[in-house]
Amino acid sequence: MTYLNSLKSEGIEPFLVDGGDWLFSLGRLHPNPLLQQQMLQKALLLIDAYNLFGTRAAALGEHDLALGLDRLVEFQKRMKFPVLCANFKDASGESPFAASTIVTSQGRKVLIVGAMRVPPQRFIDKHCAGSSFSDPYPAILEQIEAHIDEVDLCVVLGHIDRADVDRLATEVTGVDVVVEPNSSNGSENTWINDEIKTTLHSGTVLLKPSGQGSELARADLWFRDKAKPWFSIWDEDAPAGSNIADLSTVGLAPHIGRHPAMEKIVAEFMATTRYKNPIDADEMQFEPSTHFLGSITCTVCHPQQAAYWKQTAHGRAYATLEASGDQFRYDCMPCHVTGYGETFVDAHEPGRWKDVQCESCHGLNPRHPSKPEAFPWPAVKDTPCWSCHNPSETKVPFDPVQAMPRIACPLLKRSEGK
Ligand code: HEC
Ligand code: HEC
Ligand code: HEC
Ligand code: HEC
Repeated sequence: MTYLNSLKSEGIEPFLVDGGDWLFSLGRLHPNPLLQQQMLQKALLLIDAYNLFGTRAAALGEHDLALGLDRLVEFQKRMKFPVLCANFKDASGESPFAASTIVTSQGRKVLIVGAMRVPPQRFIDKHCAGSSFSDPYPAILEQIEAHIDEVDLCVVLGHIDRADVDRLATEVTGVDVVVEPNSSNGSENTWINDEIKTTLHSGTVLLKPSGQGSELARADLWFRDKAKPWFSIWDEDAPAGSNIADLSTVGLAPHIGRHPAMEKIVAEFMATTRYKNPIDADEMQFEPSTHFLGSITCTVCHPQQAAYWKQTAHGRAYATLEASGDQFRYDCMPCHVTGYGETFVDAHEPGRWKDVQCESCHGLNPRHPSKPEAFPWPAVKDTPCWSCHNPSETKVPFDPVQAMPRIACPLLKRSEGK
């Protein structure tokens, strides 16, 4: 918000769109209804934030259907902008989503078309039963043909396969910008990235946003001649007088101040991550697992290992979230605490479950303290590591061979012959 306002103060009217997959994350669809409630609350926060941004349109993405078509249709009423999908029909043969929209920006008329790749049938059965997706490519072309003469600029929100993006960018005249969120680097960083990239694709501007909201793909476009394609200002072959596109990636997280209206709705969201705020009390019965003992218990008998653990990154993982004020977020916490959803659910009261504790790696073995010899632990393998050192969600590539010695606690000094 602060960034958008800074552009406005430079006389630029930012034109903001989203390529889809912004409301939910399918991977985090935890069966615990409390966590689902937090997903809903976060989605409402995102809608309110996007409304404040002045977002013009968002494409439909698979993840946006995570909680079902009805939920998304209901949410669309709260959005001040359309969800676009040119190739979707619901069970009645109608579409709750517009295929395209025409908006005005800086005195120019802009056509925005959205489409989504065809998901597997089992996805449709689960998330939008009875619906159908046609081939997105001809559906996009149909929209362009129908409206291209009315507009100055055509933007495609291509939540589609890479091959279709390439065809759009190279074979279709009239497409000025393709926003493509599905490329390989799609979600490489969970939090901060401020690299600058440029991608200019055969005269059509190709924007590949990533960074899960922590960065913005920006294109500055200068029209010289509507009929001419775009060239990067860095492109040495750009003919004189051609249209110019200046592409950059803006890392948002660390660089800018906070906006009062945005702070307010974020604070409201943080308040909803409390257990005491159930939508439906019947579904919200939470019984903490009795299988976790917690590092406090282990420390009594294993002070040496506990002291070692405390000075590793795992022993400080919660403080890391506190440092950036992200400790109340259900989408950050699970990897920086122990057993979230099983040990506690009120994000404001993690109690003794802060940090990546012993049982995150060693597993559960609740009878061990009563008779350690009778209930031994298995050797630690790399299987538990991957649930947090998940390459699609974290920044640092994970190599268990290198990582293991950096966190392995000192071995017990066992008596001779044992
Ligand atoms: C419950 C989630 C979780 C599990 C399970 C987990 N880690 Fe981690 N790991 C983290 C987090 C979070 C950090 C970063 C902590 C911080 O700095 O705040 C981290 C940091 C590390 C680091 C330090 C990285 C650095 O650059 O300092 C190493 C090494 C590491 N983990 C190895 C492992 C190994 C090996 C396993 C499996 C045996 C494992 N982790 C299991 C969440 C986890
Ligand atoms: C899927 C598990 C996971 C989630 C979700 C997660 N983290 Fe982490 N985080 C890690 C791991 C693992 C590391 C260790 C470094 C690495 O692999 O990138 C880490 C490291 C970090 C670090 C760097 C610590 C340091 O100084 O070395 C920060 C900051 C951080 N996380 C913040 C967050 C925030 C904020 C969120 C929510 C937006 C979040 N994390 C969500 C697993 C996760
Ligand atoms: C990031 C993963 C991780 C965490 C967290 C962790 N450990 Fe370990 N621990 C290991 C690994 C790896 C070893 C090496 C032995 C093995 O592979 O099982 C080990 C070894 C040990 C041993 C010695 C085992 C032996 O055979 O001599 C004890 C005891 C132990 N840990 C206790 C703890 C306690 C207590 C905590 C919490 C305070 C803890 N560990 C936290 C990964 C972890
Ligand atoms: C009441 C004391 C006690 C508590 C509490 C305790 N341990 Fe142990 N632990 C032992 C003893 C004693 C041994 C050595 C057993 C042996 O020599 O066979 C042991 C052994 C281990 C080992 C080595 C593998 C094995 O089973 O021999 C690991 C790993 C371990 N403990 C982890 C933990 C973790 C993690 C916790 C907390 C969840 C914990 N322990 C809590 C007493 C305890």
